[in-house]
Amino acid sequence: MQMTDLIAKKRDGGALSTEEIDFMIRGYTRGEIPDYQMSAMCMAILLRGMDDRETLDLTMSMMRSGEVLDLSPIKGVKADKHSTGGVGDKTSLVLCPMVAAAGLKIAKMSGRGLGHTGGTIDKLESFPGFSTAISEESFFRNVNDIGIAIMGQTADLVPADKLLYALRDVTATVPSIPLIVSSIMSKKLASGADVIVLDVKCGDGAFMKTEEQARQLARGLTRIGRLAGRKCAAVITDMDQPLGYAVGNALEVKEAIAVLKGEQQGDLLQLCLELGGCMLTEAGLSWSMQEAKLELLKTIEDGSALWKLASMVQAQGGNPAAVYDPSLLPAAPVVLEVPAAAGGYVSRIHAEQVGLVSMHLGGGRATKEDAIDLSVGVVLRKKLGDKVEPGESLGAIHAASAEKAAQAAALLLDCYELRPEPVTRLPFIKDIIR
Ligand code: URA
Repeated sequence: MQMTDLIAKKRDGGALSTEEIDFMIRGYTRGEIPDYQMSAMCMAILLRGMDDRETLDLTMSMMRSGEVLDLSPIKGVKADKHSTGGVGDKTSLVLCPMVAAAGLKIAKMSGRGLGHTGGTIDKLESFPGFSTAISEESFFRNVNDIGIAIMGQTADLVPADKLLYALRDVTATVPSIPLIVSSIMSKKLASGADVIVLDVKCGDGAFMKTEEQARQLARGLTRIGRLAGRKCAAVITDMDQPLGYAVGNALEVKEAIAVLKGEQQGDLLQLCLELGGCMLTEAGLSWSMQEAKLELLKTIEDGSALWKLASMVQAQGGNPAAVYDPSLLPAAPVVLEVPAAAGGYVSRIHAEQVGLVSMHLGGGRATKEDAIDLSVGVVLRKKLGDKVEPGESLGAIHAASAEKAAQAAALLLDCYELRPEPVTRLPFIKDIIR
């Protein structure tokens, strides 16, 4: 088999066979197929597309390029969640304890943040002592004993994706639905869960800018998940503004705790109820979304979701007291409110720019090697549609110094657009794809 022939076949609109896809992924992962040939193939796939059979073959072949986790020692239905990434997205910190308290097993691998979106692992490390570098044995034991564990992605999980994603990044071939689907689903399938729920975001702060693009991706992801034998659903959500109010690692943990304590409602809770509802219904633990959501709300009311978070923090070396007393979490020395110059209604919050404000403060990484400051970030005081009086605060900057805070305040002002008349909000949850 020759890679040149496979590139020509895809260039001319042909469908690659299972064997051809396997040859290509094995060869590329072993370094036998050079980057320039794989780049040409990625571009041919981007232009010509792939059918479901090809996308499934590509996903499975990528999944088999490394370690595939066998979760069978864990009793019960194992569930996992993936988000296409957004600013202020602390969903896992709320959702995972809630669904674990409702009876699902959460055996989750998460990553660190890069760029303006944060990673769940960085956020969890705000708990002093917390470690996600736990052995597979402790991971399985914790899930069996308390129903929840979150560990860092092992180096050997889908090595083909690490190589391919880096190549796509520099060859303008990231926005191809079959390549995105195989990238995301190979990692989710290798992580071993029975139920996979996907949060596909669209809008300013998201990877998919339009609702139609997000819908196409959601359909692709759920189809491949089901063809691979897993229960799968996707929720399409709006990312035209940051999720919740906090952007920054420890600040997001504090917000997640507030939601789990029942102290905060709004978009973050709403999203967790939709995603959790999909998880419980797909797992067969609830008959309807309505029943599932009531079940999930009960885990907040009776404190069991908060207790799950505390149990996980303790089991992974962290201080569980911080769950009940968030003042034990890292806090920035300077907090600066940012007053609006004029009044009006918030018509736009540039989500990506808010993420960049947090990065500017030291809360995000520009390169994988960068150290981050867990205490810094932004807490929005106003969200889309809110009325603002002149001089009222739009948000609070949490910074390491007064100088950094002043710079970030100017940047935050640029994130907001206000207009004189009231603003009608579009629904935050766009659709659910089963
Ligand atoms: N996220 C991934 O993991 N892969 C992609 O290709 C795009 C987003």
